[in-house]
Amino acid sequence: METKIIAINSENRSEVLAQAESLLTGGEVVAIPTETVYGLAANAFDDAAVQKRYDVKKRPADNPTIVHISDLIMLKSVVAELPPDAVALAKVFWPGPLTIVLNKLPEISETATCGLATVGVRMPENAVARDIIAAAGVPLAAPSANISGGPSPTTARHVYDDLNGKIPLIIDGGPCQVGIESTVITLTTGVPTILRPGMISLEDIRTVLPGAVLSDDVLKKPRADEKTQSPGTKYEHYSPRANVTLIRGSLEDFAAFVKENAAADTYAICFDGEEDAIEIPSISYGPADAPDIQARKLFSVLRAADYFSASDVFVRAPRDDGDSLAVYNRLLRASGFQVVTL
Ligand code: TXA
Ligand code: MG
Repeated sequence: METKIIAINSENRSEVLAQAESLLTGGEVVAIPTETVYGLAANAFDDAAVQKRYDVKKRPADNPTIVHISDLIMLKSVVAELPPDAVALAKVFWPGPLTIVLNKLPEISETATCGLATVGVRMPENAVARDIIAAAGVPLAAPSANISGGPSPTTARHVYDDLNGKIPLIIDGGPCQVGIESTVITLTTGVPTILRPGMISLEDIRTVLPGAVLSDDVLKKPRADEKTQSPGTKYEHYSPRANVTLIRGSLEDFAAFVKENAAADTYAICFDGEEDAIEIPSISYGPADAPDIQARKLFSVLRAADYFSASDVFVRAPRDDGDSLAVYNRLLRASGFQVVTL
């Protein structure tokens, strides 16, 4: 199959939207931009289309995907009821990088939700994403548009590198502004619980729901036999082919560690301005105190490790709290929980 990349602009917008509509309602999958990461979209009512998407991604069939809506009216076709906490969150954070897990309606594909009684739903901020959903006229089930287990895609080129020949169309809306996946919160378990941290932090959520908590799964390595609240947290994620180690401590200690332990093909991932202090090739992912910039650059930098054929990467760890928690969480998983504290 030939994979087309089309950069959407004001001139071709209606033509591209019509093309997306025809593919999506015809049971095909289309890669679309969102503000977090690129998504691999399929009609959320169409089991066969959703299954196609799992096959393309090589995604384990017990990891449910997020259903995307263009407006609040569409929400009625996805969830069974709207608790007051959901309304409160939606008012403040939608459209935006927040996924809310609620009880689902039976029409939503069982394949998308892996047979669960619940569904994660999100209204993206990205205007192209919302226009595509509105054009399709149906909610779109969309996981990140990468091969499962690898770094998520934050440009159309990343999607192409992973899925060329497997999907008909990638709509290029430019680089993703947030850069890591949405915050996932469940409202179906009594206490509002964050299952996956994102750039909407626990502190942000607590301005609306003061009782919200972080799931234990966020920073804990799951045991192989364990049932986690969010099935996706079971798998190694976001990993380049290189072996990633997350290193906590000062720049000085990091530089000494690298000197001692680096092999010929080891690269360092560090903060801006630290390159000169480190004796091996280094790629920076933003200023040490700017988690929003780190988030935007993170997946490109992890992909660069493969581009350079790195065997190992040593990564300077960001803080593991506040706005940095989400970035820390992605790196923790990319490393397969391989952390060295100096
Ligand atoms: O930012 C994002 O959320 C991106 C873009 C494309 O919107 N999508 C994304 O989807 O990251 P995906 O499929 O790669 O991640 C979905 C996450 C997984 O951790 C999954 O376990 C969780 O959401 N999830 C989805 N539905 C759930 C449910 N019903 N109950 C618990 N967790 C759920
Ligand atoms: Mg993913």
